[in-house]
Amino acid sequence: MEFERIFANNKKWVADKLEKDPSYFDKLSEGQQPEFLYIGCSDSRVTAEDLMGLQPGEVFIHRNVANLVISTDNNVNAVIQFAVEFLKVKYIIVCGHYECGGIKAALHPSDMGQLNSWLQTLRDVYRLHRAELDGIEDERELFDRLVELNVQEQCMNIVKIDHVQRAWYKTGYPKVYGWVFDVRTGNLKDLNLDIEKVYGEIRSIYDLKPE
Ligand code: CO
Repeated sequence: MEFERIFANNKKWVADKLEKDPSYFDKLSEGQQPEFLYIGCSDSRVTAEDLMGLQPGEVFIHRNVANLVISTDNNVNAVIQFAVEFLKVKYIIVCGHYECGGIKAALHPSDMGQLNSWLQTLRDVYRLHRAELDGIEDERELFDRLVELNVQEQCMNIVKIDHVQRAWYKTGYPKVYGWVFDVRTGNLKDLNLDIEKVYGEIRSIYDLKPE
């Protein structure tokens, strides 16, 4: 049974950790001070710590379908607030990935029940960037570009948040970065988005001018 394999794996993992450092779990239980908040897709192929080569304690993680930051989503908002106000993370990363099923579903509209409203956010990203996207003939190129533009828009959604603005005005952090994981090659790609510049262009609309 698959469960048995998992618990056996866990026993081996604990033994490996303790062999290298007998106080490993004592240290881990003292608390966490991650510098990164990672917001990625729930896709089982995109493994967060593994692809970044980071260890437990180094990155705070939130994953959902197509790595969305929706202003009315209590879950993602709680994660971001906790990370920024209490953990004081310096960097927030939105990491999309090529071959994302959410992106593909959004570009091929069909009735998917509960998922409809979630995927609508991706269709809004498509609408916002329609002039560019409709000029792309190759379907894979089109999917890939929507993956990238979605990352950019979700980064924007982070800087629109009141407590993120408050922290940024006070300390210059968090800084927001957009990445894409390429499941075809395993490579992580920095989109080199200049979030502060892009946000600067819409600042007059979204800036809450916090004290
Ligand atoms: Co995905």
